[in-house]
Amino acid sequence: MPMGRMTLSKFLIENVGGTRDGAALAALLVDVAAAVKAIAALCSKGALSGATGSLDSINVQGETQKPLDVLSNNEFVNVFQMGGLVAGLASEEMDDPIPIEAPNRRGPFLAVFDPLDGSSNIDVNVSVGSIFSILHAPESGDTVAGDYLQPGQRQVAAGYALYGPATLMVLTVGSGTHGFTLDREVGNFVLTHPDIQIPADTSEFAINTSNERFWEPPVTRYVSECKAGKTGPRERDFNMRWIASMVAEVHRILMRGGIFMYPRDTKDPSKPGRLRLLYEANPMSFLVEQAGGVSSTGRERLLDLVPSQIHQRVPVILGSRNEVERLVRYHAEYDTGTDKPYESPLFSERGLYRS
Ligand code: F6P
Ligand code: MN
Repeated sequence: MPMGRMTLSKFLIENVGGTRDGAALAALLVDVAAAVKAIAALCSKGALSGATGSLDSINVQGETQKPLDVLSNNEFVNVFQMGGLVAGLASEEMDDPIPIEAPNRRGPFLAVFDPLDGSSNIDVNVSVGSIFSILHAPESGDTVAGDYLQPGQRQVAAGYALYGPATLMVLTVGSGTHGFTLDREVGNFVLTHPDIQIPADTSEFAINTSNERFWEPPVTRYVSECKAGKTGPRERDFNMRWIASMVAEVHRILMRGGIFMYPRDTKDPSKPGRLRLLYEANPMSFLVEQAGGVSSTGRERLLDLVPSQIHQRVPVILGSRNEVERLVRYHAEYDTGTDKPYESPLFSERGLYRS
């Protein structure tokens, strides 16, 4: 007999809904899906939405906000505030977290999110996404900023929505990473990618090479070895991709493997990395680990970090196990002075470009 379609709601009832907290979590993720559908509808209108271009406002990160950043943030804030399932929420687009206060009902979770990731891509009609992380709230009382500063390994659930040619929601509640595709006409998310597994090996890397002069030596070593391809120490050719939309990048890696790097660099010494720990790095790391991949800062497991600030930035290296572990080893070798930096033959003693 053919199997019926597994909708997101049915999946959550069957896989998460067993306990009282589980039922609340399932209901909360259905709320997230409602916000995602509204944002998908807005994004798919493109310039017809009248919400393209930039605003005069600058967010707490120092980034110019786009109308769709603000509209997407409002969608999430509304579902979380009205839903009765969270005790507070924090967003990339808001300086401080918002506690849930009467008359709204307080729930057992905290929600942290990046409402529209990669929003520099909106005006050029390239994929963007939303990222979210669900944490336990303290048992009672008003929530304060410190309640959000939990290491990523304590996340209850995490996921992203990808607004691409198709809209997908990919999520984990700690038992695998599962992908659901939006059936637009019907309005349902349908399980299309159960139990995603990231291949351990890959020949595809993603990094913004315009920052090369700011990288640390282990990253320079790793990337130059990849670029050397068949003629270098890796003895095979690599391919490179950079979409500038972390959601799209992580999605590609979940689908076919790869390594994504936004490493520590010296571009702005006040920032140890580009990406934010709580609502970018942590949820993506949870999804990647649940799919058999690895996520690291280069020097420690990302999910072990204890955050000190809501909008804290962090170096991120994630994806296929064997490549991430290799780059972590290059960091360790560099830190102990035992590394062997790769020197391209083109620039070495008898190379083409040596004068
Ligand atoms: O939110 C940060 C982000 O937009 C990510 O989605 C993306 O991976 C990165 O920044 C792009 O950075 P850059 O502008 O350096 O390419
Ligand atoms: Mn982002």
